[in-house]
Amino acid sequence: MQKIFNFFPLTVYKSVISLSEKEKEEMISEIRLMEKKSKNIDYKSSSKAWTGDTQGFEYLHNNPKFENLFFQINKCIIEYLENLSINHKKLDLYFQRSWATISKNKEHIDNHSHDQSHISIAYYLSKKKDDSRIMFFDSNKQNEFIPQLFDSRSLAKGNLFNKRDILNSSKVVFDTKEDEILVFPSKTIHGTEQGKSNSERISISADVVFVAKDSSTLEHLVPPIKNWKQFSH
Ligand SMILES: [Fe+2]
Repeated sequence: MQKIFNFFPLTVYKSVISLSEKEKEEMISEIRLMEKKSKNIDYKSSSKAWTGDTQGFEYLHNNPKFENLFFQINKCIIEYLENLSINHKKLDLYFQRSWATISKNKEHIDNHSHDQSHISIAYYLSKKKDDSRIMFFDSNKQNEFIPQLFDSRSLAKGNLFNKRDILNSSKVVFDTKEDEILVFPSKTIHGTEQGKSNSERISISADVVFVAKDSSTLEHLVPPIKNWKQFSH
């Protein structure tokens, strides 16, 4: 009798953050104001979403209007770590960077990863049913036994696959609703669907970095920042 074992998963956490409509409206107004005050608007092309981190608004976690949201995000990140059986008591957690994205009409977010951080979140502050969905991409493709097999358009069109599922795909299109939050490793390549008509899709992204509380005898964690010495130059 055959048995199949699937090793090496990517774990994406999903939960709901319930905030009052009033609080959400205040955050949405604040984000629209940031969009109006963009500092780098030439950088945004007409097909791409507005992304606050590239427009001078990359520290939402320090903005009092977002304080409760970040408190809730904090709790979700702890739950994510507990799912991976990580002893988070050994770590200091920092919100390093956080920003809003606004997608209107057919705007999308290109595939990317947040390589300067460890864990990232996406929270959907405003999202209608038909707005673009997030996509995750597998850069390891452990099951891809023929090079290019999973991403080949000609092989897909030529009916090489009886069905496509996580065993033979390098892409997952993931449905999320307003108020939902995702937590995933920052190195995971992700983006949003192209060609969808967005009403005014607003998401919040945040990057989290882990630092050892005590680095003694440990090699692979960032040591406590209080022990660093800044260059004078
Ligand atoms: Fe992202």
